Formats: sequence, C-alpha cells, structure tokens
Amino acid sequence: MARLAVNVDHVATVRQARGIDVPDPVLAAGLAELAGAEGIICHLREDRRHINDRDLRLLRDTVKTKLNMEMAAVDEMVDIALKTGPDLVTLVPEKREELTTEGGLDVKAKEEHYKRSVERLKGAGIEVSFFVDPDPGQIKASHQCGADIVEIHTGHYAEARSESEAIEQFGRIVTAAESAAEFDLRISVGHGLNYVNVKRFRTLPLADEYSIGHSIVARAVLVGFERAVREMIELVKDF
Ligand code: PXP
Repeated sequence: MARLAVNVDHVATVRQARGIDVPDPVLAAGLAELAGAEGIICHLREDRRHINDRDLRLLRDTVKTKLNMEMAAVDEMVDIALKTGPDLVTLVPEKREELTTEGGLDVKAKEEHYKRSVERLKGAGIEVSFFVDPDPGQIKASHQCGADIVEIHTGHYAEARSESEAIEQFGRIVTAAESAAEFDLRISVGHGLNYVNVKRFRTLPLADEYSIGHSIVARAVLVGFERAVREMIELVKDF
C-alpha cells in the first residue's frame, strides 16, 4: 500500500505573492495530516522564494507524521537540517532561475560531494533520499553514496505530449525502480504528478511513497485542502 506525502511549498507561494502571512503552509500541513497524508514535504530553497526558515521550524514542531526537507546539497542547508532535525532530507539540484526543480541530481558526476552530505546527515540520524532521473546509472551512484531512498523524477513522464511518449517515459521509471529494488533502496516518485497521470502508477507496485504538491494545492484552491488530499489518497492508497 503506497503512502502519500504532501508538499506544501505552493501554499507558501500564494502567501509570498502578497508578502503577508496567509495562507500558512504550517496550517495546510496539519490539514493534510488530518486528511490522512503520511508525510509532509517542504523545500527550503537558497533564495527562500516560498518556504522560509520560520516555516521549517514550525513544521518540525508540529508535523506528527514524517517531515521531509528538500534541499540542495550545500553546507548552509546541511547545517540547517542538522539544527532542525527533519525525519528525512531529499537532496535536489537547485538553480536560481528555474520555476521548479527541473531534473534529477547528477550523482555520477559528483559522488564525493554527495557522499559528504550523506555522511553528515546520516551521522545525525537523518535519512537521506536522492532525487534522480529514471536512469539506472544514477540509481547505482545514489546507492554508492549511501542513500536510503531514491525519489525517481516523474517530470518527463508528466510532461509527455502523447500516449506513446508517456508509455516510453513510464517505462524508464519502471526500469529505474527495478534497479533501485536490486540495491534495496526504498522508492519514492514525484514531480508533476496529478489526479489523472498518477493512475498509471497502479502498474508500478514498487513505489512506497508519492511526493505530490502542485496539483493538490491547485485543487485545494477550489475544493478545500482536506478534500484535495483525501481525493489523492483515494487514488494512490491501493497501488
Ligand atoms: N519531488 C521533488 C524532489 C520536488 O522538487 C517537487 C517539487 O517541489 C516535487 C516532488 C513535487 O512536485 P509537484 O509540485 O509537481 O507535485
């Protein structure tokens, strides 16, 4: 049975659009948990464009399920993670000019760098997940760096413009998940998943967790946060 972890970044995006203090991603996280989410995710970006240090602190104090902090593998963020103590850190690449995370980590190119971040985080009892493209080489490198989990980037699948392209991209995700399973890595999937394209994952029982943000926040604006979360849980719970 797969779990849903809800990313609350875009609640903070709406707040930042006005530069005031509502809506509060911390309250949204509480509602997501009440609706049955089994994890809360936030991305503390270096430019603090949505989630800020106060949000992270309060989320740490209030999240009852599992707090997953997404961050770049840089010293400033590792220091903040060590001070805050999320249950899990997901390392992601980060470029200032991007609208959202655009691709997975190039672990193969910087194994020593990622190994150092993993050692510091795991030394403090924080589990580490690597956000990677569906590429068996990157999965193997993540394992070699000591990752506990790989989050397979589903963005290219989500952006497919035809059924044949979607089938091809989904096939890459399946192959990557099989390779992760061989290394005994736990498997998450995320990026660009919505109420329609997530249904194909019924055929991928290897994924333990779905990491979903934007589509839930977008639906929540119209139907309310708890309902939007419950409707996504209904879709993923039997996968
Ligand atoms: N996983 C990772 C690593 C991400 O960076 C994001 C976007 O912040 C997500 C999942 C969620 O993507 P979306 O908001 O498109 O559901």
